Amino acid sequence: MADVFAAFPRFPLAHLPTPLGEMKRLRAALGPDAPRLFIKRDDCTGLGGGGNKTRKLEFIVGEALAEGADTIVTTGALQSNHARQTAAAAAAAGLKCVLVLMDMVPYQGAAYRRSGNRLLDDIFGADVRIIPKGADATAFFKTVLGELKAQGAKTYFTPAGGSTVTGSLGYANAYAELTDQLNALGLKDVRLIHASSSGGTQAGLIAGRMMRPDGPVVFGVNVYRLDHDKMRADITRLAAETATRLGLATPAADDIVLEDGFVGEAYGVPTKGMTDAVTLLARTEGILLDPVYTGKGMAGMLALIAAGRFKRDDTLVFLHTGGMPGLFAYQEEFVAP
Ligand SMILES: Cc1ncc(COP(=O)(O)O)c(C=O)c1O
Repeated sequence: MADVFAAFPRFPLAHLPTPLGEMKRLRAALGPDAPRLFIKRDDCTGLGGGGNKTRKLEFIVGEALAEGADTIVTTGALQSNHARQTAAAAAAAGLKCVLVLMDMVPYQGAAYRRSGNRLLDDIFGADVRIIPKGADATAFFKTVLGELKAQGAKTYFTPAGGSTVTGSLGYANAYAELTDQLNALGLKDVRLIHASSSGGTQAGLIAGRMMRPDGPVVFGVNVYRLDHDKMRADITRLAAETATRLGLATPAADDIVLEDGFVGEAYGVPTKGMTDAVTLLARTEGILLDPVYTGKGMAGMLALIAAGRFKRDDTLVFLHTGGMPGLFAYQEEFVAP
């Protein structure tokens, strides 16, 4: 098959293909009715601690360089994995990186503001600006962008999560990579489950399915918005735009499966399901999840299995989208007082 992705500017950052492993000990721990379980290790993409943003950033940085930018500007929460990986990608591409971070998560752990991803942003040399709580974010952005322009910077802006059509190309490509791995193992009728937030990962996977109908059905676990309809609408639009960019047909409305009930009180606020899932995976498979995304995504997968949504003969793949550095920002959740 011709490489449709070769038509887009791309800066190599990721170690690909990422491994696909079986989780036999987790399956055994879940009891005799548990489905067959695999894990796609996008936490092992290799850039700056790994994670799903590496695949998006290959296309984002490629586009920024093609446009002649010298500075990448992005945004996210204080513990954003996307911000940390953008800082690493910018360093690898010789670009400056400005992170405009939002103090938006109502979590008060002692290490939240200085450890985990925030620590790594500084180590990667990013210029970090924090929007004070209650400040006008649009005005803050205008000031930062105005300042950069006055300094002569050629900026390229990508929004939270890098969830643009350009970023989503990375996950359309990942879908093809995973489908090839599943076919090589002779696995059919597979379900793919992952944590969904700004939506670019899910949109890219769904667009990828329009290219590879032999691939798995995609289930997003909402770890971000309390407003399901808004989140679904955003993913639907981005999946359609990504498919169009790739010259593919528009995905059908029922291709977008978004499971609710796992955000908890709010985005970034720990849940018991998350801490249980993180410790279970660590102690059965030696794999580290994260407190904001994959821990809640895995909690969703375990709850759907417990509810009988998947049967013993089914095969599930959990897409590990990374985020492990976030554990250090939430350390009180995992250590005995
Ligand atoms: C570790 C991790 N998993 C999953 C996601 C969700 O990806 P997306 O924002 O593309 O929905 C993110 C995004 O921030 C993330 O950092």
